[in-house]
Amino acid sequence: MVRQSYGPKKCYSCTGIKKKTQESEPIQETNVQMDYPELVDTFLDSENASHLTKKIKDKIKTMVCILNVSKPTVKLADILGAEEAKRHAIETILYSLQDAELKKFRDGQPMGCIFYGQPGTGKTFLAKAIANEAQCTFMEVSTTQIDDKYHGESAANVEAIFHLARILQPTIIFIDEIESMMPDRSDSSAVNSAKVMSKFLTEMQGNAGQQVFVIGCTNYPERMDVAFRRRFQRFIHVKLPDAKSQSMMMQKWYKGFNHTITKAEFDYMANRLHGMGPTDIHKFMDHALTTRKTEFYESGSYKLVDYYDGQKYVACTHDDPKAIKLSRNELGQRKCVFEPVTAKFLFTMLLNAKPNVSAEVTKRMEDFEKSLGTLC
Ligand SMILES: Nc1ncnc2c1ncn2[C@@H]1O[C@H](COP(=O)(O)OP(=O)(O)OP(=O)(O)O)[C@@H](O)[C@H]1O
Ligand SMILES: [Mg+2]
Repeated sequence: MVRQSYGPKKCYSCTGIKKKTQESEPIQETNVQMDYPELVDTFLDSENASHLTKKIKDKIKTMVCILNVSKPTVKLADILGAEEAKRHAIETILYSLQDAELKKFRDGQPMGCIFYGQPGTGKTFLAKAIANEAQCTFMEVSTTQIDDKYHGESAANVEAIFHLARILQPTIIFIDEIESMMPDRSDSSAVNSAKVMSKFLTEMQGNAGQQVFVIGCTNYPERMDVAFRRRFQRFIHVKLPDAKSQSMMMQKWYKGFNHTITKAEFDYMANRLHGMGPTDIHKFMDHALTTRKTEFYESGSYKLVDYYDGQKYVACTHDDPKAIKLSRNELGQRKCVFEPVTAKFLFTMLLNAKPNVSAEVTKRMEDFEKSLGTLC
């Protein structure tokens, strides 16, 4: 069956959008938001959508409101380390969307891949960076948004999601916890979920010639049905960072904050971060900064000190002749200087930090990677 074309990237996706520049702030992602519901309404009222039924149009309108649709601004350069995953993602996703020769070779193949790895290793971050690089609309879908208890409605939701993606193409559909779309054979609703899965595969296959790519994300790749797995071009393991990348993360995230830690000290600490992912590292670094702030506010006594850019409050002892008693509220928006985070202080935080993921989970991922063989 030849699928109705949605018109030559008449997609409204990129017209006149000025991208915000990404600042080098830690764990900060900015997405450009557009008035997608309005764009979609205009499309659905046009001739190009005359083949769609009222029911599916209504579903598309609902989906554009409930899904998180954006233009991510994270750049590939913001992803520290993860070189192998980045390369695989570029080869699979960017080339499928942008390289004329590979597009021709892959013609008719379903456009999709799976990102797998421990929680917090940057799977969503990488997907957003690729979407930005490919100038794609990024649609985040969770399987609960597909689920509908009424018969046939979940499959209709899947259809609406793909229609929406084609309207806003080029689009990356990002499905978190994709393994939960697998039918659970012990469950009485298995027939229903099998229908959803089959609808999903049909839609993915029907995307040939369209600028729509599916990224499924999972922490449980081994739970995915083998037949389902084969429909994806590649399985990409987003691994825990190595010591070099961990050190780079720490240096980047503390840039612009009050610390005295040298590169050599960051490198030393990074070698003691076994099994810690970006989220874990960010947490204990956050804890160190927060503790410094708490110490400052609990001091209760402050004095004004001259700095090159004006006077600022620093904590002092109660018996300091210049001491002023101020509460946290009274300090309010006044300019304050906190004690810097030192290597020793951060190291103490590190000793109390625990990785979010156990060694067994890491092993489970590595075993899965080994077991893939020629499958993907
Ligand atoms: N390689 C990296 N370089 C720099 N920052 C990173 C990297 N990986 C992750 N981060 C930071 O860690 C945060 C958490 O990552 P993200 O949400 O992408 O993890 P995830 O693998 O999708 O987790 P989950 O499995 O829980 O959904 C990101 O928002 C980002 O700021
Ligand atoms: Mg995620």
